[in-house]
Formats: sequence, C-alpha cells, structure tokens
Amino acid sequence: MINKLIVGNWKMNGNLSLVDEFSQTLDARVILGIPSVFIAYAHLKNPTMQIAAQDCSVYADFGAHTGEISAEMLSQVGCKYVIIGHSERRQTSNFDNQQNVFAKLQNVVKTGMTAIICIDESYPALVDNQTKEFLKTNLDKVCIAYEPLSAIGTGKVPSLKDISETLSKIKNTYFGVKTLYGGSVNVSNAKEILSVELVDGVLIGGASLKLSELNEIARLS
Ligand code: PGA
Repeated sequence: MINKLIVGNWKMNGNLSLVDEFSQTLDARVILGIPSVFIAYAHLKNPTMQIAAQDCSVYADFGAHTGEISAEMLSQVGCKYVIIGHSERRQTSNFDNQQNVFAKLQNVVKTGMTAIICIDESYPALVDNQTKEFLKTNLDKVCIAYEPLSAIGTGKVPSLKDISETLSKIKNTYFGVKTLYGGSVNVSNAKEILSVELVDGVLIGGASLKLSELNEIARLS
C-alpha cells in the first residue's frame, strides 16, 4: 500500500488554533483541505504542509468579481490541490454545475495545481464531454473522488466490492484516472478501504478534524 493519497476536508470547520496544531505535527503524507482563509497562514506556519483548497473561482483572471478567490491566488499562498464539484457545492448552492466545474478544472490545472473532482453515484451525468476530453490529456493533474451521497457523513460505507466495481468503471471511462474513495472514512475502516487495489486514496471529511486519527490513517498509506 504505497503512495495512496490521504486527503482531509475540513469543510467549514476549524480555527487558527487547530491550524497551529495540525501545522506542527500533521503527517507529511496528508493533503489537508482547509477553509481558504487559513491557507496562507498554514503555509507560513509549515511551508512543507500539503494544502488543498475546497473550491476556487470559475473566473480565471483578476477582475471585478467580488468575493471570488482565483486558482492563481490559491496557488500563490501555497495551495497545491483544489477540491472541486463536491456534492455539498453541487447540491446546496447549485453553483457547481458541469460548466462551472469544467471552468474550475481548467483554472486549477493551468496554475500547476492538482484538481480533485468529486462525483457521486450519478457520475456519468456529472462529467460532460469537454471535461472527459480534458482529462485525457491532463491525467497527471487530476484525481476523481467517488463519494456516494449515501455515505457522506452517515457512517454507511458501501461494501468493498461495490467501491471496487465503481472505481473500476470510473477508471475505464476516464482513461485510468487516479481514483479516491470518500464518505465516512475513519480510523476504523481506512485500512480495509485502502487495501482495495483500485482505491488510490481516500477523501476524509469529519475524521480529518481529529489530528491523531488522521495521522494514524496516514501511517496506513
Ligand atoms: P465524511 O465526508 O468523511 O464526513 O463522510 C466526506 C466528504 O464529504 O468529503
């Protein structure tokens, strides 16, 4: 089990003291998705920390886009990965439609960062043709995180067979792209999930707020 990606997603949680704590002793293998306001601070505290943003703007250039944060800006403050199209953003704000996810994907890759595109059970409908074409030539800069809606924050993880079958379909459809599994991953189930051959890594929500758990999961990778 070498080189599996361990990605945390704090969502809208955490504060500066938690960033301080994580920046001191987080396992270097973890990629940590923190609220964008904390990224510059975390990077200054620990420049080697692998930081992800949880979203970026659809707009590529600087300009009159109040409240937006561009991929370029995230990159400048030390971010290396950007999660895009998370189901919480696709559903609640309905802002991450296919067109916007595609724009964000291009912006992220253009800056040299890696995009983590989240999809759920309805994934063929979530990836349009232009995204698929783009994936073909940018496989080293993109991962797809499969996060079934039924598993996010519920404690209900699909069977390992189901995970493996779905990731196999995703890899076959999208040119062997790196695939992560996400949804109720924690310290008790991470070992068996990471043992699935097609699982190239995990995306962890709730459990990523607990430093000791996250470090323990990282040691399994
Ligand atoms: P969870 O969230 O681990 O709390 O289920 C996963 C996610 O939404 O990325």
